Amino acid sequence: MSILITGGAGYIGSHTSVELLKAGYDIVIADNFSNSKPEVLNRIEELTGKKFKFYEIDILDRDSLNKVFLENSIEAVIHFAGLKSVGESVAMPISYYYNNITGSLILAEVMAKHDVKKIVFSSSATVYGMNNVSPLTEDLPLSTTNPYGSTKLMIEQIFQDIYVSDKDWSIALLRYFNPIGAHESGRIGEDPKGTPNNIMPYITQVAVGKRDKLSIFGDDYDTHDGTGVRDYIHVVDLAKGHLKAVEKIMGTKGIDAYNLGTGIGYSVLDLVKNFEEATGVKVPYVITKNRPGDIATCFSDPTKALKELGWKTEKTLKDMCKDSWRWQSNNKAGY
Ligand code: NAD
Ligand code: WQD
Repeated sequence: MSILITGGAGYIGSHTSVELLKAGYDIVIADNFSNSKPEVLNRIEELTGKKFKFYEIDILDRDSLNKVFLENSIEAVIHFAGLKSVGESVAMPISYYYNNITGSLILAEVMAKHDVKKIVFSSSATVYGMNNVSPLTEDLPLSTTNPYGSTKLMIEQIFQDIYVSDKDWSIALLRYFNPIGAHESGRIGEDPKGTPNNIMPYITQVAVGKRDKLSIFGDDYDTHDGTGVRDYIHVVDLAKGHLKAVEKIMGTKGIDAYNLGTGIGYSVLDLVKNFEEATGVKVPYVITKNRPGDIATCFSDPTKALKELGWKTEKTLKDMCKDSWRWQSNNKAGY
């Protein structure tokens, strides 16, 4: 029996694949490399000493996906495959709705056809919208402010409706906060195409000399130092959360959402300071205007994941900074 990992060649999928293989699971990865590179597969194998099957397919291609289920004994799916850039989603809403929503629908349809009804879905803290006050709990009202976020909220709703229609499903909706860091080996990590949208790859590219300076988007927020506060989570802690979610869906039926975060908010200036202290490398920065759509503060209440999944984060902000830096400095051009 295997776990199918859609988007397993990506940033979070590759780290989760390593943790699953290390824990003794058989995995099958399906990815179209739209935002990843084949080399990551060699690195996963190198880190784990384990072989796994890989399909270079688009999950929108129903026949190819069907073949994956025909050729393997899939027991559950972890569904990472999706487009994830907020800014790009505003410019290209059709692509985002098509890829993320239609991809998830086709996946659910093919799963049901093969009587595979266990899934862990990559949702996001973005579903909490602009109006809730942190720490954020899973039961808060949800809303979104951009097409990317709307795809996550709509897919959550689709899975809720699937469960209502068929109580044999077992579904975990994981709402990630801000994943950063890399595997401590420095062999796998985040490898964004072009200019990074997220802060940590931007910081590491400044530190490695690829970019001049970091722009900090605003210092007049109502936070302890005026810069935005977020719940940064080490990608390996996040990957381990998926293992716990898989264990949960194997044993029970139902649908539940879980926050995967540390429960601690750090500002952009805290992050820069911790990065400099952890690595000994200076990060020059300027303060620029606020980025439209950003909120002052966003951090999780991770109590439900602790209670129901037995999961909590272990790594510190300094670990995250050290590991991001090790990955970037050892792989200056990415994979
Ligand atoms: P990523 O882009 O590194 O990984 C996604 C992978 O999916 C890529 O390898 C890409 O090639 C693949 N993919 C995309 N569309 C596909 C398709 N139609 N068919 C097959 N493969 C496809 O992103 P990530 O950071 O690893 O994120 C993984 C998931 O977690 C995404 O769904 C993302 O929206 C969600 N998420 C990410 C973050 C974050 O900050 N990184 C936060 C919250 C949620
Ligand atoms: C973090 C902080 C910025 C870049 C996004 C998505 C969210 C989720 C995670 C997928 C903020 C500041 C950033 C820079 C900066 N992804 N910043 N200079 O916006 O919290 O969340 O990624 O689901 O949906 O919206 O993450 O890393 O972009 O920003 O000052 O060059 O860093 O203003 O306070 P964000 P981020």
